[in-house]
Amino acid sequence: MRNVTPDNISEVFAGYFGDDTDPRFKEIMSALARHLHEFTREVSLTHDEWRAALKAMEWAGNITTPERNEFVLLSDVLGLSSLVDMINSPDGATSSSVLGPFHVSDAPPMQIGDDMKRHYPGEVLLVQGRVQDLDGNPVPFSKLDIWQTAPNGLYSSQDPEQDIMSFHGLMTADENGYYGFTTVRPVVYTVPTDGPVGSILNAAGRHPWRPSHLHFIIKADGYRDLVTEVFPDDDPYLDQDTVFGVREDLVMCYEQKPSGTFPEGFAISGKVNEAYLAVNFDFKLVAK
Ligand code: BEZ
Ligand code: FE
Repeated sequence: MRNVTPDNISEVFAGYFGDDTDPRFKEIMSALARHLHEFTREVSLTHDEWRAALKAMEWAGNITTPERNEFVLLSDVLGLSSLVDMINSPDGATSSSVLGPFHVSDAPPMQIGDDMKRHYPGEVLLVQGRVQDLDGNPVPFSKLDIWQTAPNGLYSSQDPEQDIMSFHGLMTADENGYYGFTTVRPVVYTVPTDGPVGSILNAAGRHPWRPSHLHFIIKADGYRDLVTEVFPDDDPYLDQDTVFGVREDLVMCYEQKPSGTFPEGFAISGKVNEAYLAVNFDFKLVAK
């Protein structure tokens, strides 16, 4: 086409695909170009604005490493990661939520009842529950990969003071789908703001905070993997998570328990004399 115009450019784009192009790739790329073209017309994008966007992409590329991916963070703060999660979450199952950049592979095994906080000070939190199918039957021996921030608000990979495996653990639920461990209460923290995403949040008058949460990846034979996080209902950022990760069914309630009532069966039983927090949270997995 030699007479490309603002009105026909999307159609021309769609006409340039080769005959043997994968149909799904063609569908996605045509729609992407069509929406980008529409967006450009709608906001009457100027050259300066277009160049600023490309500069931000270049900056994101320059600071992206295997440990830190600024493009994933961009997708997170734009709501894209959460939208992909939501439209692919099966009905009835526990909602999925953003993975985030701080998961580490090969987390150390944790036995049921183990203590994830080890020597860290902080409010003791007892977390337990069951992994179930959509009918409430136990899913036995599922694997729960669990991680969270240290009390200083940093994940192990962000903090030279922490061992890379601190606040990471891999637990196998029992034959009744039961899991349980102790930790310290996770804290609120900010997403990294020293790159283009920080500049975008700043220009938009948005804060970079996430509500406190515990991350889980749950895997069980015959079931779809669940990547999710759970949030306490009293968190100040629950209604303004900068990466849009909160869903109604992922909100849990910490119960304040009085001193002298810590139960048996945990690695730290007998050592906890103070008041502590406890939460029961069940996960529902969908069969493959
Ligand atoms: C996290 O929950 O670890 C996270 C998610 C998205 C961006 C940054 C951090
Ligand atoms: Fe997180």
